[in-house]
Amino acid sequence: MKHVFDLLTERRAGIQRSLLAWYRRSRRDLPWRRTSEPYPIMVAEFMLQQTQVDTVVPYYRRFLERFPTLEVLAGTSQSSVLKAWEGLGYYTRARNLHRAARAIVERFDGVVPSTYADLVSLPGFGPYTTAAVLSIAFNRAHAVVDGNVIRVLCRVFGIAHDVTRSSVKKQLSDIADRLLPKTVAGDFNQAVMEMGATVCRPRSPECGSCPIGRHCEAFATDRVESLPVRSPRKARPHHTMGVAIVRLGSEVL
Ligand code: ADE
Repeated sequence: MKHVFDLLTERRAGIQRSLLAWYRRSRRDLPWRRTSEPYPIMVAEFMLQQTQVDTVVPYYRRFLERFPTLEVLAGTSQSSVLKAWEGLGYYTRARNLHRAARAIVERFDGVVPSTYADLVSLPGFGPYTTAAVLSIAFNRAHAVVDGNVIRVLCRVFGIAHDVTRSSVKKQLSDIADRLLPKTVAGDFNQAVMEMGATVCRPRSPECGSCPIGRHCEAFATDRVESLPVRSPRKARPHHTMGVAIVRLGSEVL
């Protein structure tokens, strides 16, 4: 571990500079990047929790047309929110987003809170979404750690431990915190996620055009495709079940 923190100290400034320059040059023009208002950023980050950027864009646009402000969203019925979410899947996100909007109106006068403790207390705000909204909307220094970030960090620092272990997750979160440039946290977080999604892909990464290839331990030691290490998930049990609906005329018994 000491080795990783030594690498971090040596390479931090170079990584920060190169990634930020790359992001400013080549970031995708996404609708939630044209605003610094917390509400649309919050909507985007809920949608992006389990869905890729390209799929999210049309849903995000439609959602904001229907619910242009937090007050409108809070004042609408859950079924309308679910209707607007239809097709995106993982509907718990939609229910939580709606409940979070109501809680913000009730507990914070309709103003999206800007502290970690307040935000993380809201429905659907886990560590990822809390750090994303705080950094992108408020430029507060909280590092995001999602699947893309984990892959980039394991490769850059040559971390070959099993990332499903909680001690390794904690280590990665410490590394992400130390790597974060505190005054440009929103851009840097998005730069790492963007680079992970578009260049440092799980398979066939484009190391030849990577902005931080020369700082990358996995590239230098030819281990890019074998990192990160993830122990296989336990097989999900499958059960065969029979169900029946008993009708009597037009009624369901
Ligand atoms: N994935 C989740 N949030 C993102 C963001 N703001 N930019 C790029 N990728 C993301």
